[in-house]
Amino acid sequence: MNTRTGNTNCLWKRDFVLLIFTGLMVLLIYSLTTENMRMIRNLVSKLQEEPVLCPVAISEESITPLKNTKHYLVSAFMDQRVKGFDIRIIGIFKRDSINPLHCSFCCGGVCNKTSPANILPHSDNFGFPYTATDVLCQIPKNCDPSYVTVLTQPSSNVSDHLFIPIRNKKEEMRFNFTVCISNLFGDYNNVLQFAQTLEMYKLLGVNRVVIYNTSCGPELERLLQSYRQEGFVEMVPWPIDRFLNPSRGWLFSEHGGDLHYFGQIVNLNECVYRSMERSHYVLLNDIDEIIMPYKHDNLVSLMNTLEPQHSNVGEFLIESHFFPKKHFEPSGRFHLPQWEKVPGINILEHIYREDPERGVFNPLKMIVKPKLIEQTSVHEVLRKFGERYKVPLEVCRIIHVRVALREYLKLEELNEDKRLWDFQDKLIPNVDKALKRAGLLPAEEQN
Ligand SMILES: *[C@@H]1O[C@H](CO)[C@@H](O)[C@H](O)[C@H]1NC(C)=O
Ligand SMILES: *[C@@H]1O[C@H](CO)[C@@H](O)[C@H](O)[C@H]1NC(C)=O
Ligand SMILES: *[C@@H]1O[C@H](CO)[C@@H](O)[C@H](O)[C@H]1NC(C)=O
Ligand SMILES: *[C@@H]1O[C@H](CO)[C@@H](O)[C@H](O)[C@H]1NC(C)=O
Repeated sequence: MNTRTGNTNCLWKRDFVLLIFTGLMVLLIYSLTTENMRMIRNLVSKLQEEPVLCPVAISEESITPLKNTKHYLVSAFMDQRVKGFDIRIIGIFKRDSINPLHCSFCCGGVCNKTSPANILPHSDNFGFPYTATDVLCQIPKNCDPSYVTVLTQPSSNVSDHLFIPIRNKKEEMRFNFTVCISNLFGDYNNVLQFAQTLEMYKLLGVNRVVIYNTSCGPELERLLQSYRQEGFVEMVPWPIDRFLNPSRGWLFSEHGGDLHYFGQIVNLNECVYRSMERSHYVLLNDIDEIIMPYKHDNLVSLMNTLEPQHSNVGEFLIESHFFPKKHFEPSGRFHLPQWEKVPGINILEHIYREDPERGVFNPLKMIVKPKLIEQTSVHEVLRKFGERYKVPLEVCRIIHVRVALREYLKLEELNEDKRLWDFQDKLIPNVDKALKRAGLLPAEEQN
Protein backbone atom coordinates (compact mmCIF):
# COMPACT_ATOMS: atom_id res chain seq x y z
CA MET A 1 0.00 0.00 0.00
CA ASN A 2 1.27 3.42 -0.98
CA THR A 3 1.23 5.28 2.30
CA ARG A 4 3.41 7.78 4.05
CA THR A 5 4.17 7.24 7.68
CA GLY A 6 6.02 8.69 10.60
CA ASN A 7 6.85 12.26 11.50
CA THR A 8 6.70 13.62 7.98
CA ASN A 9 5.07 16.96 7.38
CA CYS A 10 1.59 17.33 5.94
CA LEU A 11 2.56 18.89 2.63
CA TRP A 12 2.72 16.68 -0.42
CA LYS A 13 6.19 15.30 -0.95
CA ARG A 14 6.39 16.94 -4.35
CA ASP A 15 5.46 20.33 -2.95
CA PHE A 16 8.14 19.92 -0.32
CA VAL A 17 10.79 19.19 -2.92
CA LEU A 18 9.60 22.23 -4.86
CA LEU A 19 9.79 24.31 -1.71
CA ILE A 20 13.37 23.25 -1.04
CA PHE A 21 14.29 23.81 -4.68
CA THR A 22 12.74 27.29 -4.64
CA GLY A 23 14.59 28.02 -1.42
CA LEU A 24 17.90 26.95 -2.94
CA MET A 25 17.28 29.06 -6.05
CA VAL A 26 16.51 32.08 -3.91
CA LEU A 27 19.70 31.40 -1.93
CA LEU A 28 21.75 31.13 -5.10
CA ILE A 29 20.41 34.29 -6.66
CA TYR A 30 20.86 36.22 -3.45
CA SER A 31 24.44 35.06 -2.91
CA LEU A 32 25.27 35.74 -6.57
CA THR A 33 24.06 39.27 -6.20
CA THR A 34 25.82 39.47 -2.78
CA GLU A 35 22.71 40.74 -1.03
CA ASN A 36 22.26 40.90 2.69
CA MET A 37 22.96 37.39 4.09
CA ARG A 38 20.88 37.92 7.21
CA MET A 39 17.76 38.38 5.11
CA ILE A 40 18.39 35.05 3.37
CA ARG A 41 18.70 33.23 6.65
CA ASN A 42 15.41 34.70 7.84
CA LEU A 43 13.69 33.77 4.61
CA VAL A 44 14.96 30.17 4.68
CA SER A 45 13.98 29.59 8.29
CA LYS A 46 10.52 31.06 7.58
CA LEU A 47 10.05 28.57 4.73
CA GLN A 48 11.06 25.72 7.01
CA GLU A 49 8.69 26.74 9.78
CA GLU A 50 5.53 26.52 7.67
CA PRO A 51 4.87 22.75 7.53
CA VAL A 52 2.79 21.49 10.45
CA LEU A 53 3.75 18.11 11.83
CA CYS A 54 1.22 15.41 11.05
CA PRO A 55 2.26 12.28 12.92
CA VAL A 56 -0.08 9.82 11.20
CA ALA A 57 -0.12 7.52 8.19
CA ILE A 58 -1.77 8.94 5.09
CA SER A 59 -3.38 6.91 2.32
CA GLU A 60 -3.28 8.26 -1.21
CA GLU A 61 -5.16 5.26 -2.61
CA SER A 62 -8.69 5.43 -4.09
CA ILE A 63 -9.85 2.64 -1.77
CA THR A 64 -8.67 2.50 1.85
CA PRO A 65 -9.74 -0.33 4.18
CA LEU A 66 -11.17 1.00 7.43
CA LYS A 67 -9.41 -0.56 10.42
CA ASN A 68 -11.51 -2.77 12.75
CA THR A 69 -14.47 -2.80 10.32
CA LYS A 70 -15.55 -4.44 7.06
CA HIS A 71 -15.86 -1.03 5.40
CA TYR A 72 -13.73 1.00 2.97
CA LEU A 73 -13.12 4.74 2.71
CA VAL A 74 -12.96 6.27 -0.75
CA SER A 75 -12.75 10.08 -0.53
CA ALA A 76 -13.45 12.92 1.90
CA PHE A 77 -14.81 16.29 0.83
CA MET A 78 -15.64 19.60 2.49
CA ASP A 79 -19.44 19.85 2.36
CA GLN A 80 -21.28 22.36 4.53
CA ARG A 81 -24.64 22.16 2.75
CA VAL A 82 -26.28 20.00 5.43
CA LYS A 83 -26.67 22.00 8.63
CA GLY A 84 -24.38 20.88 11.45
CA PHE A 85 -21.89 19.06 9.20
CA ASP A 86 -18.66 20.09 7.48
CA ILE A 87 -17.30 16.95 5.91
CA ARG A 88 -18.71 14.17 3.80
CA ILE A 89 -16.73 10.96 3.42
CA ILE A 90 -17.79 8.65 0.61
CA GLY A 91 -17.25 5.01 1.45
CA ILE A 92 -18.23 1.44 0.64
CA PHE A 93 -19.91 -0.09 3.69
CA LYS A 94 -21.03 -3.62 4.48
CA ARG A 95 -24.71 -3.15 5.14
CA ASP A 96 -25.10 -5.76 7.90
CA SER A 97 -22.16 -4.41 9.93
CA ILE A 98 -22.94 -0.72 10.30
CA ASN A 99 -22.20 0.45 13.86
CA PRO A 100 -21.60 3.90 15.38
CA LEU A 101 -18.42 5.61 14.21
CA HIS A 102 -16.38 8.72 14.98
CA CYS A 103 -14.41 11.00 12.71
CA SER A 104 -10.88 11.75 13.83
CA PHE A 105 -8.90 14.87 12.94
CA CYS A 106 -5.40 16.27 13.36
CA CYS A 107 -5.59 19.84 14.62
CA GLY A 108 -2.34 21.79 14.79
CA GLY A 109 -0.32 18.59 14.62
CA VAL A 110 -2.19 16.85 17.47
CA CYS A 111 -4.45 14.03 16.37
CA ASN A 112 -6.80 13.44 19.29
CA LYS A 113 -9.93 15.41 18.27
CA THR A 114 -13.03 13.41 17.30
CA SER A 115 -16.66 14.06 16.46
CA PRO A 116 -19.58 11.61 16.11
CA ALA A 117 -20.31 10.41 12.56
CA ASN A 118 -23.70 10.41 10.87
CA ILE A 119 -23.82 7.33 8.61
CA LEU A 120 -26.04 7.46 5.52
CA PRO A 121 -26.04 4.26 3.42
CA HIS A 122 -27.41 4.94 -0.08
CA SER A 123 -30.78 3.30 -0.63
CA ASP A 124 -30.02 1.89 -4.09
CA ASN A 125 -28.05 -1.21 -3.08
CA PHE A 126 -29.90 -3.61 -5.48
CA GLY A 127 -29.61 -6.33 -2.86
CA PHE A 128 -25.80 -6.39 -2.70
CA PRO A 129 -24.13 -6.80 0.73
CA TYR A 130 -21.97 -3.68 0.20
CA THR A 131 -23.34 -0.25 -0.65
CA ALA A 132 -22.20 3.32 -1.28
CA THR A 133 -22.33 5.14 2.06
CA ASP A 134 -21.84 8.71 3.16
CA VAL A 135 -20.32 9.59 6.52
CA LEU A 136 -21.07 13.14 7.68
CA CYS A 137 -19.02 14.82 10.39
CA GLN A 138 -18.48 18.14 12.04
CA ILE A 139 -14.99 19.63 12.20
CA PRO A 140 -13.96 20.35 15.82
CA LYS A 141 -13.82 24.04 16.82
CA ASN A 142 -10.58 25.93 16.12
CA CYS A 143 -9.36 23.23 13.77
CA ASP A 144 -8.46 23.39 10.08
CA PRO A 145 -7.74 19.76 9.23
CA SER A 146 -6.27 18.48 5.98
CA TYR A 147 -6.90 14.80 6.74
CA VAL A 148 -9.58 12.70 8.37
CA THR A 149 -10.14 9.11 9.37
CA VAL A 150 -12.93 7.15 11.02
CA LEU A 151 -12.75 5.27 14.33
CA THR A 152 -15.01 2.73 16.01
CA GLN A 153 -14.25 4.30 19.44
CA PRO A 154 -13.35 7.95 20.13
CA SER A 155 -10.46 6.60 22.22
CA SER A 156 -9.03 4.33 19.47
CA ASN A 157 -5.29 4.70 18.85
CA VAL A 158 -4.97 6.75 15.64
CA SER A 159 -1.44 5.44 15.03
CA ASP A 160 -3.08 2.29 13.70
CA HIS A 161 -5.30 4.17 11.24
CA LEU A 162 -4.86 5.51 7.72
CA PHE A 163 -5.97 9.11 7.21
CA ILE A 164 -7.34 10.33 3.88
CA PRO A 165 -7.05 13.87 2.45
CA ILE A 166 -9.98 16.28 2.72
CA ARG A 167 -10.68 17.53 -0.81
CA ASN A 168 -12.48 20.61 -2.19
CA LYS A 169 -10.83 22.97 0.28
CA LYS A 170 -9.42 25.22 -2.40
CA GLU A 171 -10.75 24.32 -5.82
CA GLU A 172 -11.62 26.94 -8.40
CA MET A 173 -14.48 26.86 -10.91
CA ARG A 174 -12.68 26.19 -14.17
CA PHE A 175 -14.84 23.74 -16.12
CA ASN A 176 -18.25 24.16 -17.71
CA PHE A 177 -18.90 20.46 -18.25
CA THR A 178 -17.38 17.32 -16.78
CA VAL A 179 -18.36 13.83 -17.91
CA CYS A 180 -18.13 11.05 -15.30
CA ILE A 181 -17.45 7.57 -16.71
CA SER A 182 -17.74 4.90 -14.07
CA ASN A 183 -15.74 1.69 -13.95
CA LEU A 184 -13.86 0.47 -16.92
CA PHE A 185 -13.24 -3.24 -16.34
CA GLY A 186 -12.40 -6.53 -18.02
CA ASP A 187 -10.53 -6.24 -21.32
CA TYR A 188 -12.84 -3.57 -22.75
CA ASN A 189 -11.17 -2.44 -25.96
CA ASN A 190 -13.80 -0.53 -27.93
CA VAL A 191 -11.20 2.00 -29.06
CA LEU A 192 -12.84 3.60 -32.08
CA GLN A 193 -16.13 4.32 -30.34
CA PHE A 194 -14.20 5.58 -27.30
CA ALA A 195 -12.09 8.00 -29.38
CA GLN A 196 -15.09 9.18 -31.41
CA THR A 197 -17.10 9.74 -28.24
CA LEU A 198 -14.33 11.67 -26.46
CA GLU A 199 -13.84 13.86 -29.54
CA MET A 200 -17.62 14.46 -29.74
CA TYR A 201 -17.56 15.53 -26.08
CA LYS A 202 -14.82 18.04 -26.91
CA LEU A 203 -16.81 19.45 -29.82
CA LEU A 204 -19.83 19.77 -27.55
CA GLY A 205 -17.89 21.83 -24.98
CA VAL A 206 -16.89 19.24 -22.38
CA ASN A 207 -13.71 20.26 -20.53
CA ARG A 208 -12.90 17.16 -18.48
CA VAL A 209 -13.72 13.45 -18.55
CA VAL A 210 -13.18 11.50 -15.31
CA ILE A 211 -12.76 7.75 -15.82
CA TYR A 212 -12.65 5.12 -13.06
CA ASN A 213 -10.36 2.34 -14.20
CA THR A 214 -10.19 -1.23 -12.92
CA SER A 215 -8.70 -2.59 -16.15
CA CYS A 216 -8.97 -2.28 -19.92
CA GLY A 217 -7.69 -3.71 -23.20
CA PRO A 218 -4.20 -2.93 -24.66
CA GLU A 219 -5.14 -0.46 -27.43
CA LEU A 220 -7.60 1.38 -25.21
CA GLU A 221 -4.84 1.66 -22.62
CA ARG A 222 -2.69 3.51 -25.16
CA LEU A 223 -5.54 5.80 -26.15
CA LEU A 224 -6.32 6.67 -22.53
CA GLN A 225 -2.68 7.29 -21.60
CA SER A 226 -2.49 9.73 -24.49
CA TYR A 227 -5.69 11.59 -23.47
CA ARG A 228 -4.49 11.66 -19.89
CA GLN A 229 -1.17 13.24 -20.86
CA GLU A 230 -3.06 15.86 -22.81
CA GLY A 231 -5.12 16.63 -19.69
CA PHE A 232 -8.60 16.06 -21.13
CA VAL A 233 -9.06 12.73 -19.35
CA GLU A 234 -8.54 12.22 -15.61
CA MET A 235 -7.92 8.56 -14.78
CA VAL A 236 -8.87 7.43 -11.29
CA PRO A 237 -7.40 4.03 -10.38
CA TRP A 238 -10.18 1.76 -9.16
CA PRO A 239 -8.69 -1.57 -8.03
CA ILE A 240 -11.95 -2.71 -6.41
CA ASP A 241 -11.23 -6.34 -7.34
CA ARG A 242 -8.30 -6.35 -4.88
CA PHE A 243 -10.71 -5.78 -1.98
CA LEU A 244 -14.10 -7.21 -2.95
CA ASN A 245 -15.73 -9.54 -5.42
CA PRO A 246 -17.37 -6.86 -7.60
CA SER A 247 -20.43 -7.85 -9.59
CA ARG A 248 -20.50 -7.54 -13.37
CA GLY A 249 -24.24 -7.02 -13.15
CA TRP A 250 -26.65 -4.66 -11.48
CA LEU A 251 -28.91 -7.05 -9.54
CA PHE A 252 -27.66 -9.20 -6.66
CA SER A 253 -30.33 -11.91 -7.04
CA GLU A 254 -29.34 -12.41 -10.67
CA HIS A 255 -25.60 -11.72 -10.79
CA GLY A 256 -24.29 -12.29 -7.24
CA GLY A 257 -21.12 -10.65 -5.92
CA ASP A 258 -20.38 -8.08 -3.20
CA LEU A 259 -21.02 -4.77 -4.89
CA HIS A 260 -23.22 -3.44 -7.73
CA TYR A 261 -21.47 -3.22 -11.09
CA PHE A 262 -17.86 -2.73 -9.94
CA GLY A 263 -18.94 0.12 -7.67
CA GLN A 264 -20.62 2.27 -10.32
CA ILE A 265 -22.73 4.18 -7.80
CA VAL A 266 -19.72 4.90 -5.59
CA ASN A 267 -17.87 6.21 -8.66
CA LEU A 268 -20.72 8.44 -9.82
CA ASN A 269 -21.07 10.02 -6.39
CA GLU A 270 -17.32 10.41 -5.95
CA CYS A 271 -17.20 12.13 -9.34
CA VAL A 272 -20.05 14.52 -8.50
CA TYR A 273 -18.20 15.60 -5.33
CA ARG A 274 -14.81 15.69 -7.05
CA SER A 275 -16.36 18.07 -9.60
CA MET A 276 -18.50 20.12 -7.23
CA GLU A 277 -16.18 23.08 -6.76
CA ARG A 278 -14.60 23.08 -10.21
CA SER A 279 -17.34 22.28 -12.76
CA HIS A 280 -20.69 24.02 -13.33
CA TYR A 281 -22.31 20.90 -14.74
CA VAL A 282 -21.65 17.17 -14.58
CA LEU A 283 -22.87 14.64 -17.14
CA LEU A 284 -23.57 11.20 -15.69
CA ASN A 285 -23.57 8.87 -18.67
CA ASP A 286 -21.71 5.82 -19.97
CA ILE A 287 -18.84 5.96 -22.47
CA ASP A 288 -21.06 4.58 -25.24
CA GLU A 289 -23.52 7.44 -24.71
CA ILE A 290 -23.39 10.96 -26.10
CA ILE A 291 -25.71 13.56 -24.60
CA MET A 292 -26.55 15.35 -27.82
CA PRO A 293 -28.33 18.70 -28.22
CA TYR A 294 -30.58 18.59 -31.29
CA LYS A 295 -31.44 22.31 -31.40
CA HIS A 296 -28.11 23.77 -30.26
CA ASP A 297 -24.56 23.42 -31.55
CA ASN A 298 -23.14 22.44 -28.18
CA LEU A 299 -23.86 21.90 -24.50
CA VAL A 300 -22.89 25.46 -23.60
CA SER A 301 -25.66 27.00 -25.68
CA LEU A 302 -28.10 24.24 -24.66
CA MET A 303 -27.61 24.99 -20.96
CA ASN A 304 -27.50 28.76 -21.54
CA THR A 305 -31.03 28.34 -22.92
CA LEU A 306 -32.33 25.89 -20.30
CA GLU A 307 -30.72 27.45 -17.23
CA PRO A 308 -32.65 30.80 -17.10
CA GLN A 309 -35.98 28.97 -17.57
CA HIS A 310 -35.17 26.39 -14.86
CA SER A 311 -32.88 28.10 -12.39
CA ASN A 312 -33.96 25.88 -9.46
CA VAL A 313 -33.30 22.66 -11.35
CA GLY A 314 -30.34 20.56 -10.26
CA GLU A 315 -31.15 17.45 -12.30
CA PHE A 316 -31.83 17.60 -16.04
CA LEU A 317 -33.06 14.21 -17.24
CA ILE A 318 -32.15 13.12 -20.77
CA GLU A 319 -33.58 10.05 -22.47
CA SER A 320 -31.15 7.50 -23.90
CA HIS A 321 -31.99 6.26 -27.40
CA PHE A 322 -30.52 3.08 -28.76
CA PHE A 323 -28.89 2.92 -32.19
CA PRO A 324 -28.47 -0.85 -32.82
CA LYS A 325 -24.98 -1.63 -34.10
CA LYS A 326 -26.31 -4.41 -36.34
CA HIS A 327 -27.84 -1.93 -38.80
CA PHE A 328 -25.36 -0.12 -41.02
CA GLU A 329 -25.92 3.01 -43.05
CA PRO A 330 -26.05 1.62 -46.63
CA SER A 331 -23.74 3.99 -48.59
CA GLY A 332 -20.70 3.10 -46.43
CA ARG A 333 -19.40 6.69 -46.81
CA PHE A 334 -18.03 6.69 -43.27
CA HIS A 335 -16.48 3.25 -43.50
CA LEU A 336 -13.07 4.91 -43.63
CA PRO A 337 -10.00 2.87 -44.63
CA GLN A 338 -7.76 4.36 -41.89
CA TRP A 339 -10.13 3.08 -39.18
CA GLU A 340 -10.34 -0.47 -40.49
CA LYS A 341 -7.67 -1.88 -38.16
CA VAL A 342 -8.78 0.09 -35.12
CA PRO A 343 -10.81 -2.16 -32.80
CA GLY A 344 -14.32 -1.05 -31.91
CA ILE A 345 -17.58 0.33 -33.27
CA ASN A 346 -17.70 3.20 -35.76
CA ILE A 347 -20.64 5.23 -34.50
CA LEU A 348 -20.95 7.22 -37.74
CA GLU A 349 -22.11 4.04 -39.50
CA HIS A 350 -25.14 3.53 -37.27
CA ILE A 351 -27.97 5.94 -37.95
CA TYR A 352 -31.09 3.94 -37.12
CA ARG A 353 -32.69 4.83 -33.81
CA GLU A 354 -35.09 2.76 -31.77
CA ASP A 355 -38.03 4.46 -30.12
CA PRO A 356 -38.07 3.50 -26.46
CA GLU A 357 -41.00 1.35 -25.43
CA ARG A 358 -43.16 3.79 -23.48
CA GLY A 359 -44.14 2.83 -19.96
CA VAL A 360 -41.62 -0.02 -19.68
CA PHE A 361 -38.10 1.15 -18.89
CA ASN A 362 -37.00 4.72 -19.38
CA PRO A 363 -33.23 4.66 -19.72
CA LEU A 364 -32.65 8.18 -18.42
CA LYS A 365 -29.29 9.77 -17.70
CA MET A 366 -28.59 13.16 -16.19
CA ILE A 367 -26.91 16.50 -16.56
CA VAL A 368 -26.61 17.76 -12.97
CA LYS A 369 -25.52 20.89 -11.19
CA PRO A 370 -23.23 19.21 -8.68
CA LYS A 371 -23.75 21.85 -5.98
CA LEU A 372 -27.42 20.86 -5.84
CA ILE A 373 -26.81 17.10 -5.64
CA GLU A 374 -26.43 15.12 -2.44
CA GLN A 375 -26.68 11.46 -3.50
CA THR A 376 -27.07 10.13 -7.02
CA SER A 377 -27.99 6.80 -8.57
CA VAL A 378 -27.48 5.75 -12.19
CA HIS A 379 -30.79 6.79 -13.76
CA GLU A 380 -31.95 9.39 -11.25
CA VAL A 381 -30.73 11.53 -8.38
CA LEU A 382 -31.73 10.18 -4.95
CA ARG A 383 -31.19 13.20 -2.70
CA LYS A 384 -30.87 16.75 -3.93
CA PHE A 385 -31.40 20.36 -2.96
CA GLY A 386 -32.96 21.46 -6.26
CA GLU A 387 -35.70 20.28 -8.61
CA ARG A 388 -35.73 17.97 -11.60
CA TYR A 389 -36.67 18.65 -15.19
CA LYS A 390 -37.12 16.23 -18.06
CA VAL A 391 -35.61 17.81 -21.16
CA PRO A 392 -37.90 17.38 -24.22
CA LEU A 393 -36.75 14.83 -26.80
CA GLU A 394 -36.59 17.33 -29.64
CA VAL A 395 -34.17 19.48 -27.59
CA CYS A 396 -31.76 16.80 -26.37
CA ARG A 397 -31.40 13.05 -26.32
CA ILE A 398 -28.66 10.52 -25.83
CA ILE A 399 -27.14 8.77 -28.85
CA HIS A 400 -26.35 5.30 -27.60
CA VAL A 401 -24.80 2.96 -30.20
CA ARG A 402 -24.87 -0.62 -28.87
CA VAL A 403 -26.67 -3.95 -29.27
CA ALA A 404 -30.38 -3.52 -29.96
CA LEU A 405 -32.68 -3.29 -26.98
CA ARG A 406 -35.87 -4.08 -28.89
CA GLU A 407 -34.26 -6.84 -30.93
CA TYR A 408 -37.54 -7.70 -32.73
CA LEU A 409 -37.95 -4.27 -34.38
CA LYS A 410 -37.53 -4.26 -38.16
CA LEU A 411 -35.33 -1.69 -39.88
CA GLU A 412 -38.44 0.08 -41.25
CA GLU A 413 -39.65 0.56 -37.68
CA LEU A 414 -36.53 2.51 -36.71
CA ASN A 415 -35.99 6.26 -37.16
CA GLU A 416 -33.25 7.56 -39.41
CA ASP A 417 -31.13 9.96 -37.35
CA LYS A 418 -27.99 11.50 -38.86
CA ARG A 419 -27.38 14.08 -36.14
CA LEU A 420 -23.79 12.86 -35.64
CA TRP A 421 -23.02 13.56 -39.29
CA ASP A 422 -23.47 17.30 -38.64
CA PHE A 423 -20.10 17.12 -36.84
CA GLN A 424 -18.19 15.03 -39.43
CA ASP A 425 -16.04 17.91 -40.74
CA LYS A 426 -14.32 18.33 -37.41
CA LEU A 427 -14.96 14.95 -35.86
CA ILE A 428 -13.15 12.79 -38.43
CA PRO A 429 -9.82 14.73 -38.50
CA ASN A 430 -9.89 15.08 -34.70
CA VAL A 431 -10.39 11.33 -34.23
CA ASP A 432 -7.54 10.67 -36.69
CA LYS A 433 -5.28 13.01 -34.73
CA ALA A 434 -6.15 11.34 -31.44
CA LEU A 435 -5.50 7.86 -32.84
CA LYS A 436 -2.17 8.99 -34.28
CA ARG A 437 -1.12 10.59 -31.01
CA ALA A 438 -1.78 7.27 -29.32
CA GLY A 439 0.18 5.42 -31.99
CA LEU A 440 -2.92 3.59 -33.18
CA LEU A 441 -2.74 4.87 -36.76
CA PRO A 442 0.44 4.59 -38.82
CA ALA A 443 2.14 7.96 -39.28
CA GLU A 444 2.32 7.68 -43.12
CA GLU A 445 -1.48 8.08 -43.27
CA GLN A 446 -0.96 11.60 -41.95
CA ASN A 447 -2.18 13.22 -45.19
C1 LIG B 1 -5.08 16.17 23.15
O1 LIG B 1 -3.69 16.37 23.28
C2 LIG B 1 -3.35 17.61 23.86
C3 LIG B 1 -1.85 17.76 23.78
O2 LIG B 1 -1.20 16.57 24.03
C4 LIG B 1 -3.89 17.63 25.29
O3 LIG B 1 -3.59 18.88 25.89
C5 LIG B 1 -5.41 17.44 25.28
O4 LIG B 1 -5.92 17.33 26.57
C6 LIG B 1 -5.78 16.16 24.49
N1 LIG B 1 -7.20 16.11 24.35
C7 LIG B 1 -7.90 15.00 24.46
C8 LIG B 1 -9.38 15.09 24.21
O5 LIG B 1 -7.38 13.94 24.77
C1 LIG C 1 -0.55 3.63 19.76
O1 LIG C 1 0.07 2.71 18.86
C2 LIG C 1 1.44 2.97 18.65
C3 LIG C 1 1.95 2.05 17.55
O2 LIG C 1 1.10 0.97 17.33
C4 LIG C 1 2.20 2.79 19.96
O3 LIG C 1 3.58 3.05 19.78
C5 LIG C 1 1.64 3.76 21.00
O4 LIG C 1 2.23 3.55 22.25
C6 LIG C 1 0.12 3.57 21.12
N1 LIG C 1 -0.42 4.62 21.97
C7 LIG C 1 -1.28 4.36 22.96
C8 LIG C 1 -1.74 5.56 23.75
O5 LIG C 1 -1.69 3.25 23.20
C1 LIG D 1 -17.43 28.04 -20.59
O1 LIG D 1 -18.49 28.61 -21.34
C2 LIG D 1 -18.33 29.99 -21.63
C3 LIG D 1 -19.59 30.44 -22.35
O2 LIG D 1 -20.73 30.28 -21.57
C4 LIG D 1 -17.10 30.19 -22.46
O3 LIG D 1 -16.90 31.58 -22.69
C5 LIG D 1 -15.89 29.65 -21.71
O4 LIG D 1 -14.74 29.74 -22.52
C6 LIG D 1 -16.11 28.18 -21.34
N1 LIG D 1 -15.03 27.72 -20.50
C7 LIG D 1 -14.30 26.64 -20.79
C8 LIG D 1 -13.24 26.26 -19.82
O5 LIG D 1 -14.50 25.98 -21.78
C1 LIG E 1 -5.97 0.97 -15.75
O1 LIG E 1 -5.76 0.08 -14.66
C2 LIG E 1 -4.84 -0.97 -14.95
C3 LIG E 1 -4.84 -1.90 -13.75
O2 LIG E 1 -4.42 -1.24 -12.61
C4 LIG E 1 -3.47 -0.36 -15.23
O3 LIG E 1 -2.55 -1.38 -15.54
C5 LIG E 1 -3.60 0.60 -16.39
O4 LIG E 1 -2.36 1.23 -16.63
C6 LIG E 1 -4.66 1.65 -16.12
N1 LIG E 1 -4.85 2.46 -17.32
C7 LIG E 1 -4.85 3.79 -17.32
C8 LIG E 1 -4.98 4.46 -18.64
O5 LIG E 1 -4.82 4.47 -16.32
